[in-house]
Amino acid sequence: MIRRNRILRTTPAIRAMVAETILTPSNFIAPLFVVEGNNIKEEISSMPGYFRYSLDLLVGEAKELWSLGVKSVLLFIKCEDNLKDNKGTEAINPDGLMQRAIKTVKNAIPEMVVMTDVALDPYSTYGHDGIVEGNEIVNDATVEVLAEMSLSHAQAGADFVAPSDMMDGRILAIREILEENSFTKTGIMAYSAKYASCFYGPFRDALDSAPGFGDKKTYQMDYANSLEAIKETIMDIDEGADIVMVKPAMAYLDIIKLLKDNVTVPISAYHVSGEYAMVKAAAKMGWLDENKTIIESLTSIRRAGASLIATYFAKDAAKLING
Ligand code: PBG
Repeated sequence: MIRRNRILRTTPAIRAMVAETILTPSNFIAPLFVVEGNNIKEEISSMPGYFRYSLDLLVGEAKELWSLGVKSVLLFIKCEDNLKDNKGTEAINPDGLMQRAIKTVKNAIPEMVVMTDVALDPYSTYGHDGIVEGNEIVNDATVEVLAEMSLSHAQAGADFVAPSDMMDGRILAIREILEENSFTKTGIMAYSAKYASCFYGPFRDALDSAPGFGDKKTYQMDYANSLEAIKETIMDIDEGADIVMVKPAMAYLDIIKLLKDNVTVPISAYHVSGEYAMVKAAAKMGWLDENKTIIESLTSIRRAGASLIATYFAKDAAKLING
């Protein structure tokens, strides 16, 4: 034998030397769920070990993430029922929960990269990402609100806005409104290849944002397709996206790789709530080793081509990596 492949696998030191993919806490974006109130840390039933925080307790969580080397949080809010409507009124309230959450985190940890979810679903009486007329989710009127919402997040101090709505033309509208208002340092992380996925189920429990009628298939992408992932992503980049996202992650590694081979901006992947729940459930049953599953999953997402990973395991994985 002139080639023995096992030589490079002989010891942990050799394996570490030739490892092609490195996972570090600065690769992670930690999603955080925020609720109104005081001293609230409530567990999400379909996401065991994951919590909604009131603003006072949010700070401690963000500080812990920062101390572990996680440099970014992605904020989501649970809107009070009486503030929901069909126009996203509360989404652009300068004193809304999201706007206060942004200020709270930026005040506590100015260096933390604060990203915000931009979509109407938590604010919508219908649980849809856009304005509803009849049975339709209307595009252009929604885009106007999303642009206003993004501006409002930038004004509150967000570093990146992250539109997750999948309306057409929203990246351009957001970039334009940011430019017009001199927010030349605010980034856009576009959910470019976001699929209509059953893996979002637990998230919708977390924010009480499940669609009241129908599904999201007229705006989120069909999981049978990969070509439109390229189309959507290239359009978002042309419209001004700084980072593009693939969502979900584990069942979509081919899409991450496809984009990696076709675009030149950083790619992030959203390791979503259902992916978290599956690992938690199997680990609880004793069927999977939770820690090993976390690290293998996240490393695989990085190997496929994601620079960044939004994951509910950000804190756990950072602790495991830091040792
Ligand atoms: C809302 C939004 C969703 C997620 C992120 N932003 C849900 C959806 O589109 O229905 C899912 C995140 C997750 O499942 O972890 N636009």
